[in-house]
Amino acid sequence: MAAMTTPSLAVELAPTAKRNLPLANPVMVASGTFGYGVEYAKVFDVQRLGAIVTKTTTLAPRRGNLPTRIAETPSGMLNSIGLQNVGVAALIRDMAPVYAAWRVPVIASILGSTVGEYAEVAARLEGVPGIAALELNISSPNAQRGGMEFGQDPETAAAVTLGVVRATTLPVIVKLTPNVADPRVVARAVVEAGAHALCVGNTLQAMAIDIRSRRPVIAATFAGLSGPALKPVALRQVYQVAGAVDVPIIGCGGIANATDAIEFLMAGATAVQVGTATFTNPLAPIEILEGIERFCREQGLADIREIIGAARAAP
Ligand SMILES: Cc1cc2nc3c(=O)[nH]c(=O)nc-3n(C[C@H](O)[C@H](O)[C@H](O)COP(=O)(O)O)c2cc1C
Repeated sequence: MAAMTTPSLAVELAPTAKRNLPLANPVMVASGTFGYGVEYAKVFDVQRLGAIVTKTTTLAPRRGNLPTRIAETPSGMLNSIGLQNVGVAALIRDMAPVYAAWRVPVIASILGSTVGEYAEVAARLEGVPGIAALELNISSPNAQRGGMEFGQDPETAAAVTLGVVRATTLPVIVKLTPNVADPRVVARAVVEAGAHALCVGNTLQAMAIDIRSRRPVIAATFAGLSGPALKPVALRQVYQVAGAVDVPIIGCGGIANATDAIEFLMAGATAVQVGTATFTNPLAPIEILEGIERFCREQGLADIREIIGAARAAP
């Protein structure tokens, strides 16, 4: 009768943190693709999601890059938004009170231009009702290291993680960059520094050229590739990282339907984030959630956790 029972979709993202991060289901929305969540609340019941991740928020508000900031590519898109955001004070003042009344956990994505600034943003969010956890966006260029991303260097990534873990009692998720040869190196470094969970991962560095103007399409020259084109790369990185660390992993990159999401779970992810897919179908996260539930019923699963890492087990 297993197929008749309602499968449990609940997962825990931060079992080792001072405060845990229980999710009613593993479907989250990715930072920067869902605004501050309140915009989509008019489109569907966002509280059905496992968790919402805010647009990456910095200490001061930012205007972002000049246009052109986005471009379409085969099976994906390029973006170089440049971290346009309202700043942490506005997040606390305007958004957090709304989140405090929601049952869905809201995770603040944060970023600093120095290690100290990351810790400062984290400290500002400490004890703010409505903020359930922090996700560190370490894919920004580090001016002190010649523009290299914070997340490309294990020592810098670990220093950011340690700084934030010391500044907060919230669970800390570190969002890794895929722009490295082997994601396991930074993954191990940030887990050792205290990360409670990892998100694998962000956009892949890319570009496009307009052959008429003979110039890069994107004003900032380089941009991040997201969408289905990214999925096989992200899936490979989740599989690798899941074999290297013991903390929960959130899979992110090109997830557009329930099959994609289940692949990430089977590669070892405890949850998934849906990003670009919501631009073509705002209901994608909910349809993915319903598809996962349907799959569990079809397969006679009592608990979603039965398939986490299933593709890793020896046949
Ligand atoms: C327009 C756009 C804006 C984004 N902004 C952020 C951001 O502010 N912070 C962040 O960590 N990731 C940001 N991302 C990356 C996404 O969260 C996600 O990691 C990436 O797009 C891969 O997932 P996807 O293929 O499902 O979109 C952004 C992506 C897009 C397309």
